[in-house]
Amino acid sequence: MLAEKIKDKSVRVGIIGIGYVGLPLARSFAEAGVATTGFDLSRGKVESLNKGVSYIPDVPTGIVSELVLRKKTLKATTEFDGLREMDVVFICVPTPFDKHKAPDLECVRSAAESAARTLHKDQLIVLQSTTYPGTTEEVVQPILEKTGLKAGRDFYLAFSPERIDPGNKKFDAHNTPKVVGGIDKTSTKLTAELFRLFIDADKVQEVSCPKTAEMCKILENTFRAVNIALVNEMLMLSERMGIDIWEVIEAASTKPFGFMPFYPGPGVGGHCIAVDPFYLSWKAREYDFFTRFIELAADTNMNMPYYVIDRLRRLLGSAGRNLRGARVLVLGAAFKKDIDDCRNSVALYLIKLLEDAGAEVIYNDPFVPKFKFEHELYMKENSREYHSQELTAELLSGADCVLAAVAHSVYDFDFILKNSRLVFDLVNAARGHKAANLHKL
Ligand SMILES: NC(=O)c1ccc[n+]([C@@H]2O[C@H](COP(=O)([O-])OP(=O)(O)OC[C@H]3O[C@@H](n4cnc5c(N)ncnc54)[C@H](O)[C@@H]3O)[C@@H](O)[C@H]2O)c1
Repeated sequence: MLAEKIKDKSVRVGIIGIGYVGLPLARSFAEAGVATTGFDLSRGKVESLNKGVSYIPDVPTGIVSELVLRKKTLKATTEFDGLREMDVVFICVPTPFDKHKAPDLECVRSAAESAARTLHKDQLIVLQSTTYPGTTEEVVQPILEKTGLKAGRDFYLAFSPERIDPGNKKFDAHNTPKVVGGIDKTSTKLTAELFRLFIDADKVQEVSCPKTAEMCKILENTFRAVNIALVNEMLMLSERMGIDIWEVIEAASTKPFGFMPFYPGPGVGGHCIAVDPFYLSWKAREYDFFTRFIELAADTNMNMPYYVIDRLRRLLGSAGRNLRGARVLVLGAAFKKDIDDCRNSVALYLIKLLEDAGAEVIYNDPFVPKFKFEHELYMKENSREYHSQELTAELLSGADCVLAAVAHSVYDFDFILKNSRLVFDLVNAARGHKAANLHKL
């Protein structure tokens, strides 16, 4: 019985997709003493993991090598037949959108097909990829049931959203509450008990069905997208009115109830907040429903890079320079501070817009030594490879403008401001500094 196996930790857990979400999950189970296997198409990731070497900054190599080489509770493979030996299979594969911002569930479908090929009685399948409400029951369940086995009767099925926040030093897989919604009570219970192997019992929230759990994740991220858009609108108005929005937010944050600070910026990047609301607005149309808040937030947030370019043009203009032909040093290429992930990065989008405007662009990012414009989102074909430049006094002084696009903690703004002609800070990275050459978004 699966319940018994979970209780005595003899349960075997398989994880399809061992990236930013799957690897930390695999680590948590393996640390709890559960035999855990990662299944991935990427030979590079599988080989690295089996050598005990991590490729995700939040999961230290010391821990991976301990689990893989010494405790032997963690391993990885590209051979999906091994899923047959698993009691539980998690699906943690990407859920991007296409260039029209419509959901691309190709990876989920193909992972579900892999799980279906080896599905057996009493197995539990848990989808963790972020997606629109209905995916578990409308997309994954039919693929699994093509085998003739029936969900709820022969196997268990649940959705549990992932809340991991790469780079967050305070909240990780162990202390971030989990939400679980199964297609029936048993599926919910089994999934919840599984998470309780490494999370406090009261931190696992059971909900009535997969749709509720799916909507929960989208609500969380839409809440962020909408509030960021609101504060971005406030920023643009404040600039016109000669008010420092950063000072306003700091003051408003002293209110101990009913206010939560959100900060303006050059746009929303990454593969969660920038993507998930679109999954919901796409699905909503099936119900003749138009998610106006989502569209409005997207309108404002997606306009921010263009607003930044306009402000930069004006800033350079007042220094007697044109954006066309100017040398711009962009600080940061990742989609947020202290991580190496460039997916849907606004910094990259800014680099593209700057080049389109005729500027000469160089960048520095200690986490991203090189990148290429690969995603069709950037509408840039045959991209060359860009390389991070060493952040020297010469590099800074040689730029007409330094654009602080990502607030990596390692950036030393005493040094940057001392050696730069003009710094345009988009993310309050130079917080606490005052200098004539510093301009805030
Ligand atoms: N990264 C985050 O911070 C975060 C946070 C919350 C939720 N999510 C969601 O979690 C999901 C996974 O995101 P991620 O950041 O871990 O992605 P990732 O790209 O880091 O990892 C996904 C892995 O899945 C593998 N993969 C793709 N298709 C596969 C298939 N058919 N079979 C086996 N392996 C396959 C890829 O090779 C890759 O290693 C997405 O839905 C994402 O929106 C991500």
